[in-house]
Amino acid sequence: MGSSDLQAFRARILHFTSAPDIHTGAGVEYFDDGVLLVERGCVKALGRAEDLARQGLDLQSCRHYPDYVLMPGFIDTHVHYPQTRVIASYGEQLLDWLNDYTFPAELQFSDPDVATQAAQEFLQLLLQNGTTTAMVYTSVFAQSTHAFFSAAEKMNLRMIAGKVMMDRNAPAGLLDTPSSSEAECRELIEAWHHHKRLHYAITPRFAPTSSPQQLAIAGQLLRAYPNLYLQSHLAENTHEVAWIKNLFPQARDYVDVYDHYGLLGERSVFGHGIHLSDAEIARLAQTQTGIAFCPTSNLFLGSGLLDVARLEQAGVPLSIATDVGGGTSFSQLRTLSEAYKILQLQGQRLHPLKGLYMATLGNAKALKLDHLIGNFEKGKEADFILLNMNATPLQAMRQKTATQLIEQLFALMMLGDEHSIARTYIMGKLAFRRAEGDVLWVE
Ligand code: GUN
Ligand code: ZN
Repeated sequence: MGSSDLQAFRARILHFTSAPDIHTGAGVEYFDDGVLLVERGCVKALGRAEDLARQGLDLQSCRHYPDYVLMPGFIDTHVHYPQTRVIASYGEQLLDWLNDYTFPAELQFSDPDVATQAAQEFLQLLLQNGTTTAMVYTSVFAQSTHAFFSAAEKMNLRMIAGKVMMDRNAPAGLLDTPSSSEAECRELIEAWHHHKRLHYAITPRFAPTSSPQQLAIAGQLLRAYPNLYLQSHLAENTHEVAWIKNLFPQARDYVDVYDHYGLLGERSVFGHGIHLSDAEIARLAQTQTGIAFCPTSNLFLGSGLLDVARLEQAGVPLSIATDVGGGTSFSQLRTLSEAYKILQLQGQRLHPLKGLYMATLGNAKALKLDHLIGNFEKGKEADFILLNMNATPLQAMRQKTATQLIEQLFALMMLGDEHSIARTYIMGKLAFRRAEGDVLWVE
């Protein structure tokens, strides 16, 4: 200790060392009065304040936030940066929503100024919501992907992103071609993949908007470079599934379309996966292909209720995501709250420890980033948040009546949102601080 690079944060601290056992508490580490030591942006130590003091830490040197809960930053496994401005667009389900709102919004991203400004706005929104890492769709325009990576690099964020590949069934101005998409992806991968904290994801939007030739190129690219990701959409909406049958009559089912082009695997994450057969689920499990559960989007677009227990029992890797702009909030707390209700409607439960695990270490594992982020294991990158459990008068009241930690965390999960995020740190550096809000009464 004593190095000038050393920082000590003292607060209530919660993180997970593995998937939590809600009965025994295994996998959960909580300190009522804990200290997180950060050195050169990475975790140096974590423990009880009392224990670290005994080992020589001067507690006076700590930044002390006794009322806040310090947790790893949230991770979002599926979100669209060009859709920020069409969040909450009225009235349509998936296919009409894409045509009426999403495609026109994404057309704006042919303008580099729009893309640059939107990338910065989007990343600020993530930080305001306590999200420090995300797997992000950009637009079909390669410069919008460059703009995104440039903004993420400037903010020193760990991000995964890719240029959307789409060469059919969308407005002409939004289409690439198999060969232009291949050249642009190669250029982007070479510029950004494994540069600083950045990673590239091959991003065919979904099978209806890519020709068989383009899906084949996506598969070839995925195998041409080490450790690329793949992201796309799967079985979100029943009309989409029916369309797939027409577009790919030779395929056994929707999963088989992606399988045929070599797009399944441990580093692939498909949004939604609501309307799947047992055979499709078995194939996802066999290939360890991930599904991103997007609760607010599934409710907002009327897509359906994801049968989480069915996927988990089959062994499909599951993560939790906002899917903004189909989703209606950047907040993973809001997202968990809607997930809880989707499970309730099916006689299933989402325990707060499981929910908070999913939004942190669970999502890090789903993105194969758990050697770098997701909890406070020694050496990991110190991306973390301070949660204000009393962000509104109602929440302060509910926290007081909650006597147990689990009850407090559940109230946070159900009632919390971006206002619960007091501060967000990136590699030990403060990146966002919420101004204190007042509730004023006018007599
Ligand atoms: N399916 C294909 N594209 C999209 C998209 O942008 N959002 C959602 N929610 N589903 C999609
Ligand atoms: Zn999506």
